[in-house]
Amino acid sequence: MNDNKIMALHQAIDKHQIKGFLAQDEAEALYRFALEAANLGPCLEIGSYCGKSSVYLGSACREKNSTLFAVDHHRGSEEHQPGEEYHDAELFDPTAQVMDTLPALRRTLDLFDLQDTVVPVVAPSQVVVKQWATPLGLVFIDGGHSHAQALADCLCWAEKIQPGGLLLIHDIFPSPQDGGQGPYLALQAVVARGDFHWETTVNSLGVLHRR
Ligand SMILES: C[S@@+](CC[C@H](N)C(=O)[O-])C[C@H]1O[C@@H](n2cnc3c(N)ncnc32)[C@H](O)[C@@H]1O
Repeated sequence: MNDNKIMALHQAIDKHQIKGFLAQDEAEALYRFALEAANLGPCLEIGSYCGKSSVYLGSACREKNSTLFAVDHHRGSEEHQPGEEYHDAELFDPTAQVMDTLPALRRTLDLFDLQDTVVPVVAPSQVVVKQWATPLGLVFIDGGHSHAQALADCLCWAEKIQPGGLLLIHDIFPSPQDGGQGPYLALQAVVARGDFHWETTVNSLGVLHRR
């Protein structure tokens, strides 16, 4: 039954040309893990961009009558800035001379009818985490990919996950030839805490389970 829902989400993402950086198997894994973890508490993502990951996580939360908090300052990561590899001129605000992905996120949430499930939190991750008190069922980390940023995000947000909950980290590349090492080193730092078990990896999505 869920397979049909996932296929419908993939088709709608393609039809509406939602921009993003998730492979289909990773997107499907987000949906399935969120469906499981939403029983424990709300879900939260760092790095919503135009809402691709938010659609899969949010759709699962909606099914469970839960909530997804979607944290992003919407100014883009280093690699999205003008002149960088993943810059998209359509997401650049020429008046303010900054990246602005918030309008695209809002459009995506409207298209997928997720306004009552996904709560955009427009701020840097480290500002939000300082005041965060709600225990979470699942956290998905896909914000800044530098070693320092990924490490700070993974360690600070890991604290907020319920026992039995999940920490998902995007862009895990054990070999430097395949990609940047920031998220992978951050994952290893979480495992070194001793209370998270690295359960599986789906494409480049690392899945950690809190004991
Ligand atoms: C790779 S994109 C996320 C892609 C998205 N998850 C998807 O499914 O397509 C990274 C996002 O992280 C955001 N970001 C980077 N550093 C951040 C920080 N310190 N706090 C909040 N958001 C951040 C950027 O604005 C950008 O939108």
